[in-house]
Amino acid sequence: MKSKKSPENYKIKMTDKKRILSGMRPTGRLHLGHLVGALSNWVKLQDEYDCFFMVADWHALMSEYENPKGIKENIFNNVADWIACGISPDKSVLFIQSEVKEHLELYMAFSLLTPLGWLERCPTYKEQLREIKNRDLKTYAFLGYPVLQAADILLYQAQAVPVGEDQLPHLELTREIARRFNGLYKKSLFPDPQAVLTSEARLLGLDGRKMSKSYDNFIALSEEKDSVRKKTAQMFTDPARIKRSDAGHPEKCNVHSYYAVFARERGREINGLCRKAQIGCTECKKELAEILIHFLGPIQLKRKELLSNPKQIKDVLERGKQRAGEVARRTIEEVKAALNLFQ
Ligand code: TRP
Ligand code: SF4
Repeated sequence: MKSKKSPENYKIKMTDKKRILSGMRPTGRLHLGHLVGALSNWVKLQDEYDCFFMVADWHALMSEYENPKGIKENIFNNVADWIACGISPDKSVLFIQSEVKEHLELYMAFSLLTPLGWLERCPTYKEQLREIKNRDLKTYAFLGYPVLQAADILLYQAQAVPVGEDQLPHLELTREIARRFNGLYKKSLFPDPQAVLTSEARLLGLDGRKMSKSYDNFIALSEEKDSVRKKTAQMFTDPARIKRSDAGHPEKCNVHSYYAVFARERGREINGLCRKAQIGCTECKKELAEILIHFLGPIQLKRKELLSNPKQIKDVLERGKQRAGEVARRTIEEVKAALNLFQ
């Protein structure tokens, strides 16, 4: 059992639990996709693992460097959302990447030994260069994105990393970098971190594509009630159901998949009603809007309370910075020793 508050107990290795590190880039408001895809998973992992949750602000800047204005506000809002959704600062370490300078030291150490080809071949890199046209991503840092991510993970010697499938190539690179470091310097300093994939169904955006800020198809965790109603009303439904009297196919309807996540029981009933054309889509979406508003209510209340006293969030992040820093400094000592650097 952990006993709290004494600084002695913030020392690392206070538990035998496996360690987790995960991160999110503070590029905008968090939405239901983040909650279902990542946050709800983080919340569950908190008891079983020693969790480090990081605001990846340097990573955010790799794409937002031309316009960094929103970053600070996003950091605060995102952390408020994390806590409001159940990430507990008493169980987990919440911190900001740029506040722990050792991330950049390890990033440099890993840069030494990461072959360019590994980065140039990385599928996420190629895809982002192809897809993202409104930003200049042909920078030195952006190519090195997965190297910094490897440093994030290995700095804490995390054995497990909860991520979405899109991040698997980065985790694979992390393992390769760890092996290369261990091999070159005859150390077994770094573990072989494993992905913890989210088991839950993925929530798609209002238009049926991946929920994303850039598609403007999201419902934010901080979405106003009327806006939830308006956005829900715009959701795509079963494309084959044209008239109210047509029987629907809930399994092909994105609205129904929301029911499955937020009101499973009612979803089963809707399933039957929809197939028999006993409920209309407008009605079905109106009901969903109220379910979502009800669901978001307590989260928004908690978020408001936190943001009305930003000192609470500052304190959490300060505590996180200290605890993360302790682990980070130990790792860097060993890395410097391996590289025969002065210390
Ligand atoms: N690349 C991750 C994303 O875009 C964010 C991230 C940064 C991360 N560092 C990490 C995730 C370390 C897991 C572990 O979602
Ligand atoms: Fe989808 Fe509901 Fe319309 Fe059925 S009634 S098609 S579940 S929105």
